[in-house]
Amino acid sequence: MQIRQAEFVKSVADNNFLESDMSEVAFVGRSNVGKSSLINFITNRHKLAKTSSTPGKTKLINYFLINKSFLLVDLPGYGYAEVSKKQKTNWADFLENYLRTSKNLKCVYLLLDIRRTPTTQDEQMLQFLYFNRIPCKVVVTKIDTLSRSQVNNQLIIICNKLGINKEDLIVTSSQDKKGLDALLNSIEHYVSN
Ligand code: GTP
Ligand code: MG
Repeated sequence: MQIRQAEFVKSVADNNFLESDMSEVAFVGRSNVGKSSLINFITNRHKLAKTSSTPGKTKLINYFLINKSFLLVDLPGYGYAEVSKKQKTNWADFLENYLRTSKNLKCVYLLLDIRRTPTTQDEQMLQFLYFNRIPCKVVVTKIDTLSRSQVNNQLIIICNKLGINKEDLIVTSSQDKKGLDALLNSIEHYVSN
């Protein structure tokens, strides 16, 4: 698949999720893991999704229409330390409501930074997706930040921690434009099924 066309549709701050008949795929993960950057990379648009070096940039659910045929959803990052407990609970509820109620959600891509061991929240997210029978794929981001051997070591750590196989990971770098085909092929598979 190639992304020929991408446009911002809407941002949602409450539980008024977009209602549509179109298939949806969503990117989820810790704040600052590179979700918005990955959306810009795969759509080949620099500023479609807002990115920031300050964690917690995406506080809304942002919907993008791709090739006029399916929706790509940028979810707010979790694990951002600088917010109150109440805000964290609100965000978790918001995320969970979206994940639980989006009927056309075909796959959730859980993003993990290659430099970090998956956190409890990453594991909980994966468990939540398994429990709710939402198909999911793990995407590793920012592989440009480590050497090849360090990348391989980290991939082993990530797989062991999450109990998944290396072949199931999608390995990417938005900066060095790596992993595009693997990610787009996967998205194509899910949105067309
Ligand atoms: P929130 O919206 O806060 O949840 O963050 P996010 O997951 O959308 O992350 P975002 O795409 O805004 O990127 C966070 C930071 O990581 C920015 O400074 C990006 O430039 C940087 N970044 C993203 N992808 C890559 C990558 O592939 N390589 C490197 N080296 N940096 C990256
Ligand atoms: Mg973001």
